[in-house]
Amino acid sequence: MKKIKIGIIGAGKIAERLHLPSYKETKKAEVIAICDIIKKKAERLAKMFNIPKVYTDYKKMIKEADIDAVSVCTPNYLHCPITVFAAQKKKHVLVEKPMALSIREMKKMINVCKKNKVILMVEQTQRFDPAHEVFRDLVQSGVLGKIVAVRGKLGHSGPEFWSDDSPWFFNRKKSGGGVTMDVGIHILDLIRFVTGKDVDTVAATMNNLVKKKIKLEDNVEAVLKFKDGTMGVFETSWSTSPYEVTVQVYGEKGKAIVSQANFDPQRIRAWKVDPKNPYNTVKEIKVKIPKKSRHINPCVYFVNCILKKQKPFIDGVEGMKSMAVILAAIKSAKIGRFEKVKI
Ligand SMILES: NC(=O)c1ccc[n+]([C@@H]2O[C@H](COP(=O)([O-])OP(=O)(O)OC[C@H]3O[C@@H](n4cnc5c(N)ncnc54)[C@H](O)[C@@H]3O)[C@@H](O)[C@H]2O)c1
Repeated sequence: MKKIKIGIIGAGKIAERLHLPSYKETKKAEVIAICDIIKKKAERLAKMFNIPKVYTDYKKMIKEADIDAVSVCTPNYLHCPITVFAAQKKKHVLVEKPMALSIREMKKMINVCKKNKVILMVEQTQRFDPAHEVFRDLVQSGVLGKIVAVRGKLGHSGPEFWSDDSPWFFNRKKSGGGVTMDVGIHILDLIRFVTGKDVDTVAATMNNLVKKKIKLEDNVEAVLKFKDGTMGVFETSWSTSPYEVTVQVYGEKGKAIVSQANFDPQRIRAWKVDPKNPYNTVKEIKVKIPKKSRHINPCVYFVNCILKKQKPFIDGVEGMKSMAVILAAIKSAKIGRFEKVKI
């Protein structure tokens, strides 16, 4: 069986915690090269994960390492140039969130991958949480009736508690912004995934409330108007401890919540209203959550998409649709009114 040969670009936290352990879960792929501008970071992970080739220049790795695909795990501002270079050299690309810093960059990534007939997948982790997969099925099954409103929150204590040597998260030129770019994209993409709906306009307010040493927003509240009229809210924060991800969906026949905030092992609660007494009576809908994602994990799914020549459900266009809302939210906070989501 042909194995897909992977090169990792960026030997930081997400490579160590997600990409490298995830590729290990399939026999259909092997990571044969790793690159970081800081050689000892690449060497450390190469040793930990048994990777034969180490590079400090991603262009050299892509040209020389005999790989089929790359995982782009670098700071955000490099997602576009690395994707473009890799695609031009006919390598499939799995790029970390946020996909890129602007619509122009994202279109460039999509076009170059299309032209070179390589897969472009955006690593939106939340879509691979088995609770989120089941929650989406429930919401889209119609059991809650017409969806009227959705509310989502994703927050944690900030990037400095995730990776203690990554100051780039707080450098606007390298990150593209504060918590909105870093965490807001997770919850907004999850809302889109769960509802299957596209956002038309957004109004956001952003503030720096806790991390006074940085010049970026650490808390955001935003109102969403979907194209079909559904209403929504998303919140994101770098001062929520412990980590929380919650989505609530309100339908005309019931409501449901998925959460990792209250340490409830069930995680999903859903209720159907009694049509005879909707004011007071509900019936719980029981939901079973499997231990693993139906796709195993994002990296295994990426490998399977390459082997099957299949478009990922979170491809460049889908990634760009979520990022377009985030970029519109940032603009709306600046101008102080609703902003149309433009692609
Ligand atoms: N999906 C998720 O849940 C999730 C979680 C955390 C981070 N991320 C994303 O992953 C990406 C990396 O984040 P991280 O937390 O691993 O950051 P990090 O700082 O730990 O790692 C980034 C690495 O890239 C290296 N690097 C910088 N420039 C490079 C270049 N030109 N060539 C090769 N390597 C280079 C850095 O030296 C560093 O080791 C970001 O885009 C971030 O948003 C995603």
